[in-house]
Amino acid sequence: MDKLVIQGGVPLNGEVRISGAKNAALPILCAGLLTAEPLALGNVPDLHDVATMLKLLAHMGIKIERHAAGELTLGADDIHTCEAPYDMVKTMRASILVLGPLLARFGHARVSLPGGCAIGSRPVDLHIKGLQAMGAEIRIEHGYIEAKASKLKGARIFMDLVTVTGTENLMMAAALADGVTVLENAAKEPEVVDLAECLIKMGAKIEGVGTDVITVTGVPHLHAAQHDVVCDRIEAGTYLVAAAMTGGKVKLNNARAELLDAVIDKLRESGAKIEHDKTIITVESRGVLQGPGALKSVSIRTAPHPAFPTDMQAQFMALNTVADAVATVTETIFENRFMHVQEMQRLGANIEVEGNTAIVRGREFLEGATVMATDLRASASLVLAALVARGETVIERIYHLDRGYEHIEDKLGKLGAKVQRIK
Ligand code: UD1
Repeated sequence: MDKLVIQGGVPLNGEVRISGAKNAALPILCAGLLTAEPLALGNVPDLHDVATMLKLLAHMGIKIERHAAGELTLGADDIHTCEAPYDMVKTMRASILVLGPLLARFGHARVSLPGGCAIGSRPVDLHIKGLQAMGAEIRIEHGYIEAKASKLKGARIFMDLVTVTGTENLMMAAALADGVTVLENAAKEPEVVDLAECLIKMGAKIEGVGTDVITVTGVPHLHAAQHDVVCDRIEAGTYLVAAAMTGGKVKLNNARAELLDAVIDKLRESGAKIEHDKTIITVESRGVLQGPGALKSVSIRTAPHPAFPTDMQAQFMALNTVADAVATVTETIFENRFMHVQEMQRLGANIEVEGNTAIVRGREFLEGATVMATDLRASASLVLAALVARGETVIERIYHLDRGYEHIEDKLGKLGAKVQRIK
């Protein structure tokens, strides 16, 4: 298994291009199942999760034509199985996103219950309840969701929790249902909006995206379209925190500041200077490598968009480990998303966990050690901690990072970091 070896202590400087968003690319690839006509996509990131999804779609019969980097066309005119087998989906929870499209277009689907990051129980009951409300018959058998519906029907669906992939699955199913579906308490994440924009280009009738009530009027068919995947706000946020922590000046290209309001507010509160225009964000900071007191501790509380994203929680934990005072980090979305705490403690961090809150007392410095990546964003937080730690940090099991960060060691390397991948 690959490892990353990081020599801490180098300020970051330079430019980095932000990739397409993993969490938008995955549902959009599944949208390719909704039409027999070609779906041409651009800005698709080169990530392990994307490769896993493409493998799953190819298994079902989707033809994939690859063009330049990040560009591909999907053709779903000859789907020969509506099954997503366990072996192909166990590493990626987002594979549940084939359920809605398959059921809507073909009237049946057999999808393994998903795996993915070990950050809590993460059920899919709301996906299932929503499809049942649209008339689907669903059974769970031998670890598989077996779903049937001769024709899905529009319905009013209230979700008692905000679920991102749940909203996406139901929006895709509703696009081909008979009649009007109203999704209440829908997710407002930019990736949901990007999927909706792609579906609208394919001929779907969707209103209210970006608000918590989405109305979908079903159409009989969707058609060919071209769509570029929105930039990855979490990758962008991670590089912003990296630069704020190490100090230096970093310019992010192909990034959209308006998708990162909560993150940018908190970084400014910590003392970083951030400027932006439409597609560029620049961060400048004195950084902790110059001596103590450079970063202010910032307390955060995760919640659905537009509040502070759970996918940036671990990175801000890393920042707080070397900030000037005490901060609380409260996780309200997932019940088991503090697995990075123990690993950060190995680097010398002072963190106490009480329920869903971590109390982080900033220290003057961290010390390099061997740590293990446990989930995607936890892995990113260990990279950030390693960048400011004294000496060498070895991060094991980095396959989690490869699921969600495109060419991370190259990008950090170009900014001056000393990062090496050991195969
Ligand atoms: C998506 C993102 C993930 C992000 C998360 C929250 C993708 C591929 N992944 O995950 O990176 O961390 O949103 O922003 O887009 N829940 C239920 N029942 C359900 C569905 C969800 O109880 O049927 C709960 C979950 O256990 C969790 C909460 O709702 O506590 C939010 O989960 P959800 O928004 O569904 O996360 P994902 O869509 O899996």
